[in-house]
Amino acid sequence: MSKIKTVYQCQACGYSSPKWLGKCPDCGAWNSFSEEKQSPKPLKSFSLSQPQPLSKIVGGKERRTHIGINELDRVLGGGLVNGAVILVGGDPGIGKSTLVLQAISKIASQTSDSNQKTVLYVSGEESPEQIKLRAERLSINSDNIMLLSETLVENIVMTADDMKPAAVVIDSIQTIYTEELTSAPGSVGQIRESAAKLMFFAKKSDMPVFLIGHVTKEGAIAGPRVLEHLVDTVLYFEGDKGHPYRILRTIKNRFGSTNEIGVFEMRDEGLVEINNPSELFMSERPLNVSGSTVIVTMEGTRPLLVEVQALVSPTTFGMPRRTSMGVDFNRVNLLIAVLEKKAGIHLGGMDVFTNIVGGLKIVETAADIGIISAIVSSFREVPIDSKTFLFGEVGLSGEVRAVAQGDSRLKEAAKIGFKKAIIPKSNAERLKDNFGLSIVGVKDVEEVIENIRG
Ligand code: TYD
Ligand code: MG
Repeated sequence: MSKIKTVYQCQACGYSSPKWLGKCPDCGAWNSFSEEKQSPKPLKSFSLSQPQPLSKIVGGKERRTHIGINELDRVLGGGLVNGAVILVGGDPGIGKSTLVLQAISKIASQTSDSNQKTVLYVSGEESPEQIKLRAERLSINSDNIMLLSETLVENIVMTADDMKPAAVVIDSIQTIYTEELTSAPGSVGQIRESAAKLMFFAKKSDMPVFLIGHVTKEGAIAGPRVLEHLVDTVLYFEGDKGHPYRILRTIKNRFGSTNEIGVFEMRDEGLVEINNPSELFMSERPLNVSGSTVIVTMEGTRPLLVEVQALVSPTTFGMPRRTSMGVDFNRVNLLIAVLEKKAGIHLGGMDVFTNIVGGLKIVETAADIGIISAIVSSFREVPIDSKTFLFGEVGLSGEVRAVAQGDSRLKEAAKIGFKKAIIPKSNAERLKDNFGLSIVGVKDVEEVIENIRG
């Protein structure tokens, strides 16, 4: 009798080893190995295809459906591509099921040339009654939305193949399993094999498939990394539970640019698109208080105005505290060091707190001079003019460096009603237009500080 062969596989990256290991040599995760049955057979490939010359290939135009939710369409690169597999990740309770349900109800309300479009919503987590409750809350009621409680991927593929819906939703991929493996649903092998089956089905039948995926505490989409490589598009739905704003971010997109964002607000009646997020993030801004200023950050192709706040107060402990929310902690420490050394602003005995308003996270260095200004403003208790905004990167010698897309940043701020821009000198010299703003080009941190006072 032949022994069933098992391997130990890292649940974080899919690395396999014949023995249990405490630390994954591939991704470095600790205690991540679990026993799995070795994949019984490799995935069947398509029929042998012949290489063909690039010039002979026609088209290059994917067929896209506009879902009708602008923020989502943009994030997808201009609509939903037939046969695309889209992974929607996010923390539990952030609104993934709500988003996808709203999206497919839009699709279901469209009529194609021949017939009404039906969509298939497969849930392994919630019963049809629970989904019905959510749909009632969203005022969605349609004969074209078909609900299926099923977790076996072979059955899902068979049902979808019979039904030929306009889109399929799998909520969530972690609950789906294939009968070819004996491991529990949610394990690396199961997620990968089930997703691969759905992927082949999507490509073969030209049907778009949404996979909803859970996210671990560390922020990675739970399951093997291979899942991210397998799918065409990875969207990440994020936001702060305490805030109603939700941001849909593209992590990967084979059919469009990455780093696009869509902004939504979670209301009682569901997700509402925010077409002008800059206005929203500005709406609650306190005027003429110290420690607050506005920066323009780029999210993909889209400029976004956000408020940066800082609070500087004498420390009551021996060690001054530094806390930052929404911006990189180390970046803020670096900027504080630059302020000390290059501008003679001594923060050694001060606690410094920085915050980006609205639960946003900013990774761009263009926020640097904004953070510096907010800190100086709070330190000196001098408010920055409320019609002034800034952007620019700060180098270690205190120089202010140019950032990309200066023109679109200025244009957006002018649209919202700002009057004065403090920007890197080299950006100011290259401008095509001043958009009716008074523009101050600065070359170092000292010049920034001089100009925010006036
Ligand atoms: P849900 O889509 O179930 O989240 P996920 O699938 O990502 O786990 O959304 C759950 C949260 O959204 C829940 O806390 C309630 C809230 N919510 C609203 O505020 N308004 C609504 O219309 C709906 C449907 C949900
Ligand atoms: Mg859900």
